[in-house]
Amino acid sequence: MTEKTTSDLVLEQLKQGLALPGDLYTSPTLFAEEVSAIFGRQWLYAGHVSEIPHAGDYLTVTSGDESCIVARDADGEIHGLLNVCRHRGARLVDCGTGSTRRFVCPYHQWAYSHDGSLAGAPRMPDSFDKSRWPLKKVHTSVWQGLVFVNFSSEEEVESLPELMADAAELMNPFGVEDARIAHTEVYEVDANWKLVWENAQECYHCNANHPEFIRTFDVREMAQPTAGEAPLWYSEDRRSQSARFPLKPGAVSLTMSGRPASAKPMGEFADGREPYTAAAHLKPGFAFVFSPDYGITFVDTPVSPDRTHVKVQWLVHRDAVEGVDYAVDNLIRVWDQTNRQDWELCRSVQEGVKSHGFEPGPLSLDETSVAGFYYAYARMMSAAGL
Ligand code: FES
Ligand SMILES: [Fe+2]
Repeated sequence: MTEKTTSDLVLEQLKQGLALPGDLYTSPTLFAEEVSAIFGRQWLYAGHVSEIPHAGDYLTVTSGDESCIVARDADGEIHGLLNVCRHRGARLVDCGTGSTRRFVCPYHQWAYSHDGSLAGAPRMPDSFDKSRWPLKKVHTSVWQGLVFVNFSSEEEVESLPELMADAAELMNPFGVEDARIAHTEVYEVDANWKLVWENAQECYHCNANHPEFIRTFDVREMAQPTAGEAPLWYSEDRRSQSARFPLKPGAVSLTMSGRPASAKPMGEFADGREPYTAAAHLKPGFAFVFSPDYGITFVDTPVSPDRTHVKVQWLVHRDAVEGVDYAVDNLIRVWDQTNRQDWELCRSVQEGVKSHGFEPGPLSLDETSVAGFYYAYARMMSAAGL
């Protein structure tokens, strides 16, 4: 008899409408498998193009043992480069963003251009051929101004725009590529990355836990849409999903007052397009929500079985001026509060599922997207034979 895989087990739970067993959130072995089988093979959000506006600018993105430099070259082209020196393997740059003329290895000073080619290597013999030792490439794709990388070692990976096709029409009007980052928070969440996702997939908990969020977000409309159009689009494997984000009557932005937080509307909303709010995501790690005046991106990075980093960035129109068009406090208030409330809920679930007495319970009518997450997870795991 062959042993049951994790994906088989998840699909069985799904069939019964049940949540997942506790050890899926605590096992170090499973965690290591997920990091390599899922995060090592899927598209991961790296940053917004406005973070690397000029030639020489770069940002970094890490996942598990992997680190990538996303660099803009003199022609404006963006390259994904493995952050590993071709000599004896040192990291070329630390985490974060920066600007440099060359990537010079701190160890023995091999120097690389922004397209990864090796430009200089001191004291190498005459026979040394620099062209044979460029930095390794990491698959990189830009969609609506959002830069994604994929650490897969396969020659070819699936097309990011195709994966995001359903979200394109809904998100186009926001002019995401013309935004810039107004604020960044990195939250440390004491919970497994899957619990963070599950929590974000349902508003079953919103009324009881998110007083700021539900001032403008219409929980009832989300549960039973009356708008007459499909409330949710998703890819067959549920990795990519997008939806309108219903606000209460009169609200035009997800803020405390329902009024815009930034005076400079984004994209087509500057030309009078009727306001709406929309959300999209790409599993395993990326989600974003846009109102006509500002947007927010979320990136989940698994750190250990019971710890996840969530990097959240608030975006505004690139011409919006802090203190004139928006105040950061007001801009971030609803999501920052909501996030902190969510992390506390995730932490409490992480504590609970560790108990020997935890038995996965049935999902509610408001948790269909949690089931969608389980399905996508099972598909991503089974693609790696797990
Ligand atoms: S390890 Fe980078 S130059 Fe030696
Ligand atoms: Fe929440």
